[in-house]
Amino acid sequence: MDVKSVATVCIIHNQKINYRMSIINENFLKLQNNYLFSEINKRVNEYLKENPDAKLIRMGIGDVTQPISKAALKGMHDAVDRLSSADTMVGYGPEQGYADLRSAIAEYDFKARGVEISPDEVFISDGAKSDTANIVDLFSNEVKIAITDPVYPVYVDSNVISGRVGSYQEGKWSEIVYLPCNAENKFVPALPEKHVNLIYLCFPNNPTGAVLTKEQLKRWVDYALKEKAIILYDAAYVAFIREEGIPHSIFEIEGAKECAIEFRSYSKTAGFTGVRCGYTVVPKELKVKASSGEDVALHGMWKRRQTTKFNGASFISQQGALAIYTEEGRKEIRETVDYYLNNAKMISDVMSDLGFEVYGAQNSPYVWIKVPEGQTSWSFFDYLLREKNLITTPGVGFGPEGEGYIRFSSFGDAESVKAAMERLKQD
Ligand code: MLT
Repeated sequence: MDVKSVATVCIIHNQKINYRMSIINENFLKLQNNYLFSEINKRVNEYLKENPDAKLIRMGIGDVTQPISKAALKGMHDAVDRLSSADTMVGYGPEQGYADLRSAIAEYDFKARGVEISPDEVFISDGAKSDTANIVDLFSNEVKIAITDPVYPVYVDSNVISGRVGSYQEGKWSEIVYLPCNAENKFVPALPEKHVNLIYLCFPNNPTGAVLTKEQLKRWVDYALKEKAIILYDAAYVAFIREEGIPHSIFEIEGAKECAIEFRSYSKTAGFTGVRCGYTVVPKELKVKASSGEDVALHGMWKRRQTTKFNGASFISQQGALAIYTEEGRKEIRETVDYYLNNAKMISDVMSDLGFEVYGAQNSPYVWIKVPEGQTSWSFFDYLLREKNLITTPGVGFGPEGEGYIRFSSFGDAESVKAAMERLKQD
């Protein structure tokens, strides 16, 4: 039925206004302002309109700048060549991803770290942003959610859209259990004080850069097993871990396969922010009780969701991702991540020398910095934009606990990062 006929039907039934009100998902109207990075772009564009010659240095959104690994490029070139001939051409792929990529992931990302994941527990996607947002489809609206604060805004916004967060009061949603991460707890959240069903964890953390030790992560897995909760574990930044003993996957913790889903991304690992590829691991052991009392495996539900709503990541991006598991590919992506980590160290060193309180940067591309006394996240963001021509991300954009912080991304090229630091040294 098109809009015109909907309206006609409504007029016939004399319910025009009610009908119109009910045809949209009004939860969208609850979303706060713009999506964080769109709001930053808006402010930057306004500034650029007034100051078209400004030489801005971008340290805001975590978007990569260095060329994609040669191995991955070759994988993608070969894929394009295959598409050029009827003999080798491929059309729709499996919605869950190609078997060779799923096997390489099981082998190199998990088995190599002592974790047995079956290739068919791996679901290839176009990135962790979509998966962490789409996973909400599996859960009822009664579910109680715990979210670390500050946090990647997609977790909160996707739950706002699906209508399970209550009302917005003083910077917080009434139905979300916030788990504050601050300098006092070293940005490691405490367990929730009340029962929750779903817990979002992201480590290495975006935005603070904090990591969890095995013992700390085990506490979460034990809690989830005891409370029959599910942990949604975003490990998009795992390639940045350099410290020994830090778990790379939640499945390194015993029992996690019964209570966790893990999200991974090639965006920051292999420079695929534009190429788009990632994956989600849903273990077959992860089961929940339906209202009928039946045990339901989330693996089957996610598979059903993906086969219905998703037609698979592109063949080209999957072939690129597959190529990073070659010896050459693994070496190249590690070198690029090291390059960004050097940038992070440069930012961290200079900001510390300038007297700022600095966090993150060691196992993460993000540097989390306390703003000077008397400033807010947005006022310092504006100062850096207008006075230093630097684009950063205001901490409060990641949640109320982020107020008073600013996030620097280290994904620029080293020369720009150096230039940015020089600007900050000059007062
Ligand atoms: C960030 O800057 O937090 C991320 O790059 C955003 C994203 O991955 O979507």
